[in-house]
Amino acid sequence: MTRYSRITGTGSFLPPQCLTNADLVAQLAKDGVETSDEWIVERTGIRARHFADAGMFSSDLGFEAAKKALASAGRRPEDIDLIIVATSTPDMVFPSTACILQHKLAQIDAAAAGIAGAPAFDVQAVCSGFIYALTVADAMIRAGSAKRALVIGAEVFSRLLDFKDRTTCVLFGDGAGAVVLEASETPGILASDIHADGKHVGMLCVPGHVQNGHILGDPLLKMDGQAVFKLAVGLLEGAARAALQKANLQDSDIDWLIPHQANIRIIQSTAKKLKLPMEKVVLTVHHHGNTSAASIPLALDVGVRSGQIKPEQTLMLEGVGGGFTWGAVLLKL
Ligand code: ACO
Repeated sequence: MTRYSRITGTGSFLPPQCLTNADLVAQLAKDGVETSDEWIVERTGIRARHFADAGMFSSDLGFEAAKKALASAGRRPEDIDLIIVATSTPDMVFPSTACILQHKLAQIDAAAAGIAGAPAFDVQAVCSGFIYALTVADAMIRAGSAKRALVIGAEVFSRLLDFKDRTTCVLFGDGAGAVVLEASETPGILASDIHADGKHVGMLCVPGHVQNGHILGDPLLKMDGQAVFKLAVGLLEGAARAALQKANLQDSDIDWLIPHQANIRIIQSTAKKLKLPMEKVVLTVHHHGNTSAASIPLALDVGVRSGQIKPEQTLMLEGVGGGFTWGAVLLKL
C-alpha cells in the first residue's frame, strides 16, 4: 500500500509585543531614521509586526506553536518520532534549535519525556525553510523512517535587523508556526518542488560569522530589495507550476494559495501569474510582516483557525528566500 503524509494539526505563536508602523516610525525617528506608515503600507502592505522580548528565543516561540499544533492534532509530545525546525535565527550556534525544543516538550510532564530519542534537526533555507522542512518530513514519512513529525518554522528576525537601514528594518517580524505531519493511506502532500542557486548569496544575507571568539563581518541583514523582488515572482511561479505538474493538477484546482508573507506586491503578482483571485490567498503580511521561515505555517494556522480553509481543500504553499532558495508544496488538508 502506498504511504503518504498528511497534516493533522496546525499551531502558531506570536510574541506579545506588537509594533504598529506608527510605533516603529516613532522609534526610528529617535535615531534620525525617516520613514512613514504611508510608505511602508504602500510598498509592502505591512501595518504591524511582533518582536520578541530579550531572552525569548526561536525555541520558545516554536515550543508554543508546537503545543498548539499537537493539541489540534489530538497528539502528545511522546507520539512524535521526528522534529524538524526551520530557522535562520537559532538559539545557539549549536546544538540545533530542534534539540532545544525537543527538551522543552519532554519537560511538559512525565509522559512527554517519551519524545526524547526522536531525531531532531534544523533546516536552514531562510524564508523557504518551512517548505524545505515539510518536503524532508514528507520524504522521511513516505520512506517509512518516521510516522508522526512535528515540523516547525520559528524565527526572531528582529535580532538581525539594522535599525539604521530603513530599507530593511521595516519589513520583518518574529513568530512561529507548526504542523503535525502524520503517515496516512491517503494524500496529504501531493507534490513538492524545492531549489537553490548559490550565485545569489550576496543579494540577501547576514554576512557575519563567529571566529575565535569574535564576530567577523557584519552580523546584520543586508538586502538588495529590488533585485529580490524581480527574482522572487518568477521563481515562485515556476515552483508552483512544477508542483502542479507533478500532481497532474491545474491552477484552477487550487483552493488556497498560502505564500511566504514578504510583501503584498510580490504576493499579488504571484497570484496573478497563477490566475488566482486574491480571495483565494491567505494574507497575514499586514499584521505579522515577514517572519521568514515562520510565515507560511503561521498563515496556514491563521487560515485554518479562522475557518477560511476547510478540510479536504487543496492548498499551494510557496516560499522564496536567501540563498537563493525557493520551493512549493501542494497538499490536500
Ligand atoms: N521609508 C521611506 N522611504 C524608503 C524606505 C522606508 N522604509 N525604504 C526605502 N525608501 C526610499 C528609498 O530610499 C528610495 O528613495 P529614493 O527614490 O529617493 O532613492 C525610495 O524609497 C524607493 O526605494 P526602492 O528600493 O526603489 O523601493 P521599492 O519600491 O523597491 O520597495 C522594498 C523596497 C519594499 C524593499 C521592495 O523592493 C521589496 O519588497 N523587495 C523584496 C523584499 C523581500 O521580499 N525580501 C524578503 C525575501 S525573503 C527572505 O529570505 C528574508
